[in-house]
Amino acid sequence: MESSKISIVPSVLPADFSKLGEDLLALEKAGVDRVQWDVMDGHFVPNLTFGPDVIAACRKSTSVAFEAHLMVQNPDLLLTNYIDAGCELIIVHVETAPHLHKTLKTIRDAGAKTGVALNPSTPLEVIRHVLDLVDLILIMTVNPGFGGQAYISTMEKKIEEAAKLIRATDHVIELEVDGGIGPNTIAGAAKAGANVLVAGTALFKDPKGLEHAVSDLRSKAIAAKNN
Ligand code: DX5
Repeated sequence: MESSKISIVPSVLPADFSKLGEDLLALEKAGVDRVQWDVMDGHFVPNLTFGPDVIAACRKSTSVAFEAHLMVQNPDLLLTNYIDAGCELIIVHVETAPHLHKTLKTIRDAGAKTGVALNPSTPLEVIRHVLDLVDLILIMTVNPGFGGQAYISTMEKKIEEAAKLIRATDHVIELEVDGGIGPNTIAGAAKAGANVLVAGTALFKDPKGLEHAVSDLRSKAIAAKNN
């Protein structure tokens, strides 16, 4: 069953790492729905970002919910670390979880929500048999590793397929997209079925500020769904 709510979720990848607490407070004031931490280990993707201690240190800066997007070689080793750091939703890449059913059950048993992320080339088929353990599907619209990349519009077909898969289930699953989401691309992703839209560059680089960026993206996504 699809979620009807449109959520705008910032990636903090483009934030000022020297003042993360302040940037998180600014995001909360700008009306974001939750915050995504792009966790990268330098192995699954050629970049290195946030450990659980950084997230735990930032937890007290805002009441906005945290989600961890684990772009790491072996997420099973880190699941409880990011839950204990204050992330209520843990997103794992199916490409890094050979025992995905067990990984998702471990997250659920630890009291967090589960997300499954699929790289552009990964077919949806891989998650068909674990949907009962899935709270969110993340369709990557860039190849993971860096912010500021171009949106891969051919993923809209896959977003449509994911939305169809979700409509056939008997529980609520959010459909998230991440990568190159901005004023010129959000409508295509929303119209295809996405209801959680992750943006980094488009939010932090908006010359009119975060509040404008969040409301502009939200209104464009809602308009696209209603047309
Ligand atoms: C890729 C990252 C980025 C980031 C958002 O691994 O996951 O997609 O969150 O990047 P922007 O919004 O700058 O394309």
